[in-house]
Amino acid sequence: MRYGHFDDDEREYVISRPDTPLPWINYLGTEDYIGIISNTAGGYSFYRDARLRRLTRYRYNNAPLDLGGRYVYLRDDESGAYWSPSWQPVRRDLDDYECRHGLGYTVIRSRFAGIHAEVLYQVPLGETLETWRVRVTNTRETAASLSLFGTVEFCLWDANDDATNFQRNYSIGEVEVEDGVIYHKSEYRERRDHFAWFACSEPAAGFDTQRDAFTGPYRGWDRPVAVERGACAGSVANGWQPIGAHHVRLALAPGETREVVFALGYWENPTDRKFDPPGSQRIDKRLVRPVIERHLRPDRVAQAFDELRGYWRSLLGALEVDTGNEHVDRMVNAWNAYQCMVTLNLSRSASLFESGIGRGMGFRDSNQDLLGFVHLVPERARLRILDLAATQLPSGGAYHQYQPLTKRGNDAVGTDFNDDPLWLVLAVAAYLKETGDRGILDELVPYDSRPGTEATLYEHLQRSISYTLERTGPHGLPLIGRADWNDCLNLNSLSEMPGESFQTAPYRESGVAESVFIAGLFVLAAGEMAQIATRRGDGREARRCGAAAERMRTAVDEHGWDGAWFRRAYDRAGEAIGSARNAEGRIFVEPQGICVMAGIGVEDGRAERALASVRELLATPHGIMLHQPAYSRFRAGLGEISSYPPGYKENGGIFCHTNPWVMIAETIVGDGDAALDYYLRTCPSARESISEIHRCEPYVHAQMIAGRDAPTHGEAKNSWLTGTAAWNYVAVTQWILGIRPDHDGLRIDPRLPTDWGDVRVTRRFRDTTYRIAIRKQRGAVARVTHLVVDGRVVDGTLVPLPASPGGVVVVEACTEPVPDRRPMGPG
Ligand code: BGC
Ligand code: NOJ
Repeated sequence: MRYGHFDDDEREYVISRPDTPLPWINYLGTEDYIGIISNTAGGYSFYRDARLRRLTRYRYNNAPLDLGGRYVYLRDDESGAYWSPSWQPVRRDLDDYECRHGLGYTVIRSRFAGIHAEVLYQVPLGETLETWRVRVTNTRETAASLSLFGTVEFCLWDANDDATNFQRNYSIGEVEVEDGVIYHKSEYRERRDHFAWFACSEPAAGFDTQRDAFTGPYRGWDRPVAVERGACAGSVANGWQPIGAHHVRLALAPGETREVVFALGYWENPTDRKFDPPGSQRIDKRLVRPVIERHLRPDRVAQAFDELRGYWRSLLGALEVDTGNEHVDRMVNAWNAYQCMVTLNLSRSASLFESGIGRGMGFRDSNQDLLGFVHLVPERARLRILDLAATQLPSGGAYHQYQPLTKRGNDAVGTDFNDDPLWLVLAVAAYLKETGDRGILDELVPYDSRPGTEATLYEHLQRSISYTLERTGPHGLPLIGRADWNDCLNLNSLSEMPGESFQTAPYRESGVAESVFIAGLFVLAAGEMAQIATRRGDGREARRCGAAAERMRTAVDEHGWDGAWFRRAYDRAGEAIGSARNAEGRIFVEPQGICVMAGIGVEDGRAERALASVRELLATPHGIMLHQPAYSRFRAGLGEISSYPPGYKENGGIFCHTNPWVMIAETIVGDGDAALDYYLRTCPSARESISEIHRCEPYVHAQMIAGRDAPTHGEAKNSWLTGTAAWNYVAVTQWILGIRPDHDGLRIDPRLPTDWGDVRVTRRFRDTTYRIAIRKQRGAVARVTHLVVDGRVVDGTLVPLPASPGGVVVVEACTEPVPDRRPMGPG
């Protein structure tokens, strides 16, 4: 069942009923000012850091109620009837409703009793504010007298403190109301130099800034007394719950449309210009005032919207595909790339599954996210790499997370996730291949953010490699440490304390628990590092990495292969995990994907054998499960993985992040059909028609889909902020379509599904635009034999770099059918 449809031309998802299974959200803002907005206008806004600079409140734990938002009310002043054009929070049945989530904006439209309303929510590029353009049209045959209210509930900045520290917070709320603008200035009197403001383009008939004056005691946002009676109280908040509410009266002739703009913003004053007059306690508004005025102007709103649309058009122009498969095309051309940009901004901090007060930026997460946006915003990728590297520890290890505001490693979650440093190598390799900017390797970057410890980025990468080599176990495989990619495989923790976080529980390095996954990742990373070193003329480092990769490969051959698949790990007693000798957790997906990606077993058939095992034992119609059988009971020696009920999250859930690794592995053994088949199983667009089962948004990937052991098999959770986005993007564009940046040019080496014909791709790469046509006979399995580049034949699959970048290069990739590889099994 569907709750809407894709409008591919507009790059919008159109939701046609408000009561989606869960709030289906979108993000406003591309850099410093970010908002979450649901299809019924729920959500909140923040400046840079969802925890420390939260502008508005959201009620946690309330999906699907979804309360706290950018709420607009309309009231018919003749009948007294009132409603919300976004359905929430009043939830009055509307005659018509539509929400369009676009790239960086959302439009919600509805009709009630002959009054049509449309609200466009957006964050203008480069600004620290959002605007809501409300258009109200009277479609009645008679004149209409209406009241329009725009409301926000302020958060007292630190979202964690705001949700917990009432004894203080009920006394600190302060506002100013001046010239129709509501300023929220809690704590401005002391150490903060920032405030929020909420303004309206029309002269106000009234305002409120104290929540219970507006809603009335024992009432909520669904039935505010001010809206009911058609008048605000003019309340000025002192303590309690500061809000912003503006009331505007509209007299509309039949057919008339009026436009009203509400704007909410964040402003920082220079510390020596906080007050006006100096010495007083009143905000100096002289700098912010012109900004407010400007953004309330309808022409400015329209212009900002054009700029926003233009920004996304040009950004996503970096890679556009025409494959004939609607799911692939719309995900690659719009939604998947868009989701990658959102993960760039937010890592795992703020969504409806991430509170914004918990996790900062994940080290491994951010490095992987980069794979999905490096071609879109290479300059931001560069900064991100340097920020991440600056939190690396002198040991080569990494803080698991860092705070976006301070950019410092945060030890709320420990270090010693032994895979972490290797992801930095993969991120830098991807950046170098995309940009050719080798200068980044010479950038001086501190360790642990400590001045005086600077070393080149290249040395940081060397330490990442050494970190693994200095931590190997009895089988010569990497020690797992606290955990590896699978945060929940906690083989060294033995937590027995109720409620204790498995991620931070006391951990004792056994010196025994090893990870085959890290071994595969190491082979991959050391291979990349060897290439980087060779290009830098550092033969010694290239040889060191090459030899280390060989040794690791041998260790995997000897101790990581189980007979029909790769093992997962060895526990602290030296027992294999992910082996046929286990009753539960016999096979795990992660090592199958990563080892094949590292080329292990590709020559001798083990790769294909492992992938056949995945298909047989782990694949479901909803995607590939993390392991099987799921753990049926808690085992302290395994940690958090066995804490989840079977089929959820890391305990045998379909952890979507890993599925693209298998897709890539399938292309490596040559099976584009299998790769696409897996792609479509978790692809949100391809699951749109089962939205009642999937439940999350059909336009973005979710972290997890409940596995076969779960009673809700097929149900997605944790949408938006997941490495699934970047890896799917990489799998489909670089491996199935085979358009892969390389150090010396652009590789075109697709593994197209049998029933596909020609494919067209436009790719911006190092300032040159490549117009690529892959010629393929439909119904054939085919490989590229040669390229025709601007009319000249080039053997092989690499388009060399043009003599001078900046122009357009036309490439034809000519393929030849090859014998069918292997039949597809059931899944
Ligand atoms: C989740 C993991 C996540 C970890 C982060 C765990 O509870 O299951 O998916 O990586 O928390 O701290
Ligand atoms: C989500 C985390 O953000 C990511 O870092 C981790 O790899 C996966 N969960 C698997 O545990």
